[in-house]
Amino acid sequence: MTDHYAVIGNPIKHSKSPLIHTEFARQTGQDIDYISRKIALDDLVGGLKKLQAEGFKGINITVPFKEQAWQHVSDKSGHAQRAGAINTILFNDDGTLTGDNTDGIGLCRDLIDNHQIELKGKRLLLLGAGGAARGVIEPLLKHQPSSLFIANRTARKAVDLCSLFADFGAINGGGYEALSGSFDIIINATAASLSGEVPPLPDNIVNRNGVCYDMMYSDSDTAFITWAKQHGAAHSIDGLGMLVEQAAEAFRLWRGVQPKTQPVIRLIRQLKTS
Ligand code: ATR
Repeated sequence: MTDHYAVIGNPIKHSKSPLIHTEFARQTGQDIDYISRKIALDDLVGGLKKLQAEGFKGINITVPFKEQAWQHVSDKSGHAQRAGAINTILFNDDGTLTGDNTDGIGLCRDLIDNHQIELKGKRLLLLGAGGAARGVIEPLLKHQPSSLFIANRTARKAVDLCSLFADFGAINGGGYEALSGSFDIIINATAASLSGEVPPLPDNIVNRNGVCYDMMYSDSDTAFITWAKQHGAAHSIDGLGMLVEQAAEAFRLWRGVQPKTQPVIRLIRQLKTS
């Protein structure tokens, strides 16, 4: 019997998750289907109940529901509990829900395994303090960067996140005006790319050999990737690898099988250029 999965969000039309999970299923011989579903901005709980009633086995959660979903699901992995945001739910057979966050694993695997970028001893800058940012802070700090600065339009949210994760390493935060010096790795976790914008960054913040990473993926360069290329980043990387890696981890949680990510990353890059 086919098991059903979905990604929910708003907007959701351009999500690559159905393609990614369909490829994983084909590759591993798992009998699943995976769709995208738009949920009304004011009805996450209704949307979750409907999916559960329809017999879905699990879902991924994207913008803007990651923090709200966290509030709704009481049983969570330790990492997701601290993050305050979830991107994966398992609908258990007994009617309970389990929440997890695979964003951080996805980001670190893409940076370290796929792009051979070492985090240890590096000066990191994370842009944004919403659901996307929350999920990656602990995994990033576990790789022992020399420091992590969180910059956000609403400075208070960045400062609050620093207190929450202070026991994991050297972490500071504030508004964009508080940025000083340059960074080895700058990671964009804001939703600014969705509207073609870039946070107000000073000109000289990318180190020589610096890396800029946009957690957002789009078929054409995002505004942040364009900014990175114009501001001397040695490597500017879009979020496709992270998208596929976080999906692989969700697939493993649901199905107990680890899919291969490289063929799927290659396939989506090919579709983009064909
Ligand atoms: P997500 O779950 O994707 O993180 P979110 O919780 O709505 O979505 O958070 C969006 C993040 O992008 C926030 O850090 C937001 O800044 P604020 O906390 O100040 O709202 C940031 N953001 C959105 N649009 C932005 C823009 N145009 N410029 C800078 N930051 C932006």
